Amino acid sequence: MNRGERLPVVSGSIDGNLAAELAKKLGWEHHALVARRFPDSEAYVRVPVNSIEAVRSEPVIVVATTFPDDGIVEALLMLEAIHDVRTGNLTNLKGEGPEQLDNVGPGIILAVPYFGYSRQDKRFQRGEVVSASLIVRLLARHIDGLIVLDLHAPSVLDNLEKPIEFVSAMPEIADYLKSNVNPDFILSPDKGAIERASHVANLIDCKFSYLEKTRIDAHTIEHKPKDLDVQGAVVAIVDDMISTGGTICKASDALLSQGAKEVHAACTHGLFTGGAITRLDEHVSGVHATDSIASNPRALVSSASALARGVNNLLERLNL
Ligand code: R5P
Repeated sequence: MNRGERLPVVSGSIDGNLAAELAKKLGWEHHALVARRFPDSEAYVRVPVNSIEAVRSEPVIVVATTFPDDGIVEALLMLEAIHDVRTGNLTNLKGEGPEQLDNVGPGIILAVPYFGYSRQDKRFQRGEVVSASLIVRLLARHIDGLIVLDLHAPSVLDNLEKPIEFVSAMPEIADYLKSNVNPDFILSPDKGAIERASHVANLIDCKFSYLEKTRIDAHTIEHKPKDLDVQGAVVAIVDDMISTGGTICKASDALLSQGAKEVHAACTHGLFTGGAITRLDEHVSGVHATDSIASNPRALVSSASALARGVNNLLERLNL
């Protein structure tokens, strides 16, 4: 999309670097909201005075993650602050004016690099909360469109009555792997990642296969034995997310026992919980993730281009 205007891309305290990179890719302006914590850890958000005009003059892209939990509260406060500014509600106890302006209408687009709480999307047992559906309802209140990067199961957003763009960082991961790992073989560690991992294999033009995984509990998984033609090969296991690392470690052991020369792990969302990096380093030659989770120590691939594709598509669909 060739827009003459420089739209504001705003961030809070978590995704400042990614938002700045996204703004740069789009040729737009990055605005950092004032986002901090009170001493008791509660969040505070304000649209700074010098960003008010920008936030009101064009559609605004809000980059906010819903992980960890602090991210959810900050995202909600950012959306509320931007909604107030765009609807012209600037009343304040200091009496700084103008306090009331016109409502500039729709145009709040939320770009979520990592959608936390997407796992619990069904009520498996009586009495459980369907967390994904609650988080979606909360976020939906003030948005006109949503962009989500590599959502594990897009069906969690089925009930959201707002336009959504699902984007993937697999093209960026493929480019990165080609230049830095040069794999001969791409493996999906389970059936759920087949579409993403095979996309990477096609882009790199190398062999592909997948494993069948059964999850016993959050920390235990089993892979069905499978003969893979990986003798002497450099293999990259590609998944949407790595959490404990259990899935990757098991898959890597299977590959190495079948003669793979090197095994690498690549994913969009590097959650790396509970010593995952230390565990992974014992099983694979390299761990490569995007920056969708800002604090992740293996954020080697920028997800800004993927989000930029989503922003352009959504603005075109919404005719904003
Ligand atoms: C689940 O199907 C996901 O795609 C990942 O494979 C999973 O979340 C990875 O979890 P962990 O690293 O704890 O095995």
